[in-house]
Amino acid sequence: MIPFFIFLICSLNIQQPRFAAAQQDCPPASCSPSGGPIVRFPFRLIGRHPQHCGYPGFDLSCNPTNNRTEFDFQFPARASARNIILPLSAKATVNEIDYRAQVIRLSVFRGSCLPAQVPEVSSSPSPFQFHIKIMYYGAGDGYTLFNCSGALDNYEEWARPMGPITCLARGNHRVYAYRSSTSVTDLPLSRCVKMYNVSDISEVLLDGLREYSVDDTYLHWPEPVCTNCESRANYCGFNTNNQTQCFHIPTQSHHNKQGSISDKAVIAIVVVAVFTALAFAALFYFYTLKRRKQSKERRTERFLEDHKARRLTRYTYSDIKTITDGFKHKLGQGGYGSVFRGKLSTDILVAVKVLTNIKGNGEDFINEVGTIGNIHHVNVVRLVGYCADGYKRALVYEFLENDSLNKYLSSGKQSSTVGWEKLLEIALGVARGLDYLHQGCKQRILHFDIKPHNILLDHNLNPKVADFGLAKLCSKEKSVVTMTGARGTIGYIAPEVFSRNFGKVSYKSDIYSYGMVLLDMVGGRREFGEAAAQDSGEVYFPEWMYNQLEKGEDIAIHVDNVEETDIVKRLIIVGLWCIQWYPADRPSMKLIIQMLEAQNMPIMPPNPFAASNSANSTSPLSSSSSTMYTTSTTTTFTS
Ligand SMILES: *[C@@H]1O[C@H](CO)[C@@H](O)[C@H](O)[C@H]1NC(C)=O
Ligand SMILES: *[C@@H]1O[C@H](CO)[C@@H](O)[C@H](O)[C@H]1NC(C)=O
Ligand SMILES: *[C@@H]1O[C@H](CO)[C@@H](O)[C@H](O)[C@H]1NC(C)=O
Ligand SMILES: *[C@@H]1O[C@H](CO)[C@@H](O)[C@H](O)[C@H]1NC(C)=O
Repeated sequence: MIPFFIFLICSLNIQQPRFAAAQQDCPPASCSPSGGPIVRFPFRLIGRHPQHCGYPGFDLSCNPTNNRTEFDFQFPARASARNIILPLSAKATVNEIDYRAQVIRLSVFRGSCLPAQVPEVSSSPSPFQFHIKIMYYGAGDGYTLFNCSGALDNYEEWARPMGPITCLARGNHRVYAYRSSTSVTDLPLSRCVKMYNVSDISEVLLDGLREYSVDDTYLHWPEPVCTNCESRANYCGFNTNNQTQCFHIPTQSHHNKQGSISDKAVIAIVVVAVFTALAFAALFYFYTLKRRKQSKERRTERFLEDHKARRLTRYTYSDIKTITDGFKHKLGQGGYGSVFRGKLSTDILVAVKVLTNIKGNGEDFINEVGTIGNIHHVNVVRLVGYCADGYKRALVYEFLENDSLNKYLSSGKQSSTVGWEKLLEIALGVARGLDYLHQGCKQRILHFDIKPHNILLDHNLNPKVADFGLAKLCSKEKSVVTMTGARGTIGYIAPEVFSRNFGKVSYKSDIYSYGMVLLDMVGGRREFGEAAAQDSGEVYFPEWMYNQLEKGEDIAIHVDNVEETDIVKRLIIVGLWCIQWYPADRPSMKLIIQMLEAQNMPIMPPNPFAASNSANSTSPLSSSSSTMYTTSTTTTFTS
């Protein structure tokens, strides 16, 4: 561990792109020499950038003790008691900044005690929109806080309150929160007084409710609009008139500075490393101690009967512990929970996803799980059972041998073992699975988190769409989902999911993510990654592919034969159709399947990266242009 830290320090590589005159003293900066988010317009780093480098309200700072990027952010929350918008503030660590999607990913510090701030009144508008993450239902309906004399006990599992909110405890009084949509008459609130409603706030920020939440928080900034500029690999900035403008970055010059290691730094690193090691050792000891052996034969029999009969099994939380052997083998960690390997019997393996950050009561969850449990398609992962035990929710899926597509896309040894023909088959399988989810069942099911990690491969490398943790069910008539939460993974998330300026959230948001996966299938291959890097340095990879094809250049120069060249080109063209910026311009899954199977090569889509050069221009979505693209899509692929 220690050599690793030292290696990080030694391999400093500070890049300083050249800037237009107005932005000369605003070079991109980072708090940590060994990584961390790059800070540039509209953000600025206090102490490193002068005021004019950033947009008002976009000030970040470096924490000198750990070199983390920090954000003292304010966001509006409505407090019904006063019927006004209150700016709450919290201190957060910045994990990622996506300048194209205009989204910042934060983890919020404990101890801000946001609920306590609600009754305070102050008024400065926030440039940020807070994205509430919603899991299954109850999007953005907020919380009602109750002040109770003494701790709540004696409640049914489904009526389990959130809290107590530790920072609001006064003497014997404890404060609890319920979703505002919960029917109050059924709640054990005889000793409680209603305090106020809090809406537009994520429960991650309600102190004391973080037992199960490991999630990050997303904030979207609608202004200044730099998306078009950023997607062309240019940077936004203020010009000499203090107006936002798009600056072209001609070339990158690299200055390599070798950081000298001071004794202090070495000591700090050693201390950090030792403490980390101690923390890990303590955690490990704790877990080992906690694992208990339980008699489980009877229950196991029942599970196996259900499994054979393809019935959905309901498990208790202690069943889940037993199945996963005390959460011993972690397979992965996503924004919505952790996945563990489990065993129903010696020969039936399952993957158990323990969900965090759940809203709504168990009944809603069970209803929705029932719907998902009825989904049977060769390209969709089978749900075996679930757990709804108080706030503990878990989904139990069939286990697939070959891991996820992600493993085959990273430019390691694995990638070369899957041929292009197989990749095309995988692309088609995923498309069929998604088409089934979108059209094949009684209710339209939107996935909202299509990415290579969520495409699992069985022993024959047949793909199965996995992880319905994010799926929100909605009826077919209502093909547009109202969504206040941003979800998914930056990079695969469709732009409209972050900002309504770009269109409505619908099944077309899944199409966007699918398109990014197709482009990843090509771009993740080492031969293409290297070619693109040599060619262009900084250019966004999908854009590089578009430009190559547009110029009529042979993108598949690194591929052995004509058939494979055809496959590569097809994957790229279909991918580019899918990542059209505006949802209306993207084809449906049915059309995508046709394009992948058709004899003829599909025609080139409009340039997904075309945008005006000025960042001042508002969203260029005009109904005429989107209708035009839709028409051309239809005429091209249905004839
Ligand atoms: C923080 O970064 C500075 C250089 O910017 C470096 O000298 C220092 O050692 C770093 N501190 C930690 C704790 O990594
Ligand atoms: C809850 O109510 C008690 C009694 O009225 C009061 O003393 C206490 O301050 C209240 N708690 C909060 C957080 O307002
Ligand atoms: C809080 O929200 C609930 C449900 O939306 C509503 O019935 C109630 O009147 C609200 N309370 C206040 C004080 O506005
Ligand atoms: C731009 O803003 C800075 C302060 O942020 C101010 O000092 C300067 O005068 C402004 N320039 C113009 C042209 O408005």
